Amino acid sequence: MTDDLSALQHETEAALAAATDLRAWDAVRVATLGRSGRLTALLRDLGKAPPEQRRERGAALNRLRDSLTARIEARRLELEEEELDARLAAERLDPTLPPRPRETGSIHPISRTMEEIAAIFGAMGCEIAEGPDIESDWMNFSALNIPAHHPARADHDTFYLPAQGNLPPPVLRTQTSPVQIRTMLARQPPIRVIVVGRTYRADHDATHSPMFHQCEGLVLDRDLHLGHLKGTLIDFLRGFFGIADLPVRFRSSYFPFTEPSMEVDIGWNRRTGELGPSGPDGGGDWLEILGSGMVHPRVLANCGIDPRDWQGFAWGMGVERIAMLKHGMTDLRPFFESDIRWLRHYGFSSLAPTMLHEGA
Ligand code: DAH
Repeated sequence: MTDDLSALQHETEAALAAATDLRAWDAVRVATLGRSGRLTALLRDLGKAPPEQRRERGAALNRLRDSLTARIEARRLELEEEELDARLAAERLDPTLPPRPRETGSIHPISRTMEEIAAIFGAMGCEIAEGPDIESDWMNFSALNIPAHHPARADHDTFYLPAQGNLPPPVLRTQTSPVQIRTMLARQPPIRVIVVGRTYRADHDATHSPMFHQCEGLVLDRDLHLGHLKGTLIDFLRGFFGIADLPVRFRSSYFPFTEPSMEVDIGWNRRTGELGPSGPDGGGDWLEILGSGMVHPRVLANCGIDPRDWQGFAWGMGVERIAMLKHGMTDLRPFFESDIRWLRHYGFSSLAPTMLHEGA
């Protein structure tokens, strides 16, 4: 190798060794192999060499190019590995750092209330039954002993859908009670179910929404009587509101699907809106909270269940209503307006467990 070539080799090797990052490395590569690099220039000038030297110098230049190219590449791999090692060392995770506070969502009070209802009745042995939002006229009314032209139909402000064929038009279910029918048609007693779900009535003001939620219950067995109904609902109401001595009153009423029928009132203070027994500052008022009764024999018969063998009771209540009472809300509309401030205020932590008998 001629002196100029061995000088180029040594200088390039020294420069590569001195390059401690990929930028410096790239400068060496360009200065050697780039378009105006030193080796490139020597290759270009090969034609100017005297013809008798050309072949030997050409071979030497090619060898030098191969060896420098290999060294430059090897140095690149070395430097890349060093950079990766440095990065891994610098980015090491510190698991002892506290987490950054993070925006979290919350559980909607309706969902939370339905979970609480399910937890309490679940502990009493009830399963959850479901049905569709669009019901036939028969399921929503007739099977529940509300035939066509029955005055109770007029109370419901029903949303009707287009009729199909000769059948009465389907409806958006006005109550969760049709799921009682679906359950009894699908299986034999004994039955213990609750239904929590959406219901619809053409009604809209501070305490009514065209879409709302109900909770329904159905318990069928041999030898059930009014005492079972009363015990079940008293336990539920005291557990749900977390007031162990909450006064509960059963008042005779009328529903087509129960006989006898009863409305249930709880004790509250008309002036303060507080629930509970009467205290030194008043109370002693009653607030209607739900409907109930012994399942009408005709409803059982409509579902192929013999009322001489099986009896039971049922109840129904508004989910929004009991949620509002429990949490001191006065207006139902914000439940469905998705105002993030309201949701933050009334929402529940997703980490808070649903207690069975909160506070009771
Ligand atoms: N379905 C009734 C309503 O929407 C509530 C109800 C009352 C349901 C009494 C029942 C019951 O199961 O027994 O007003």
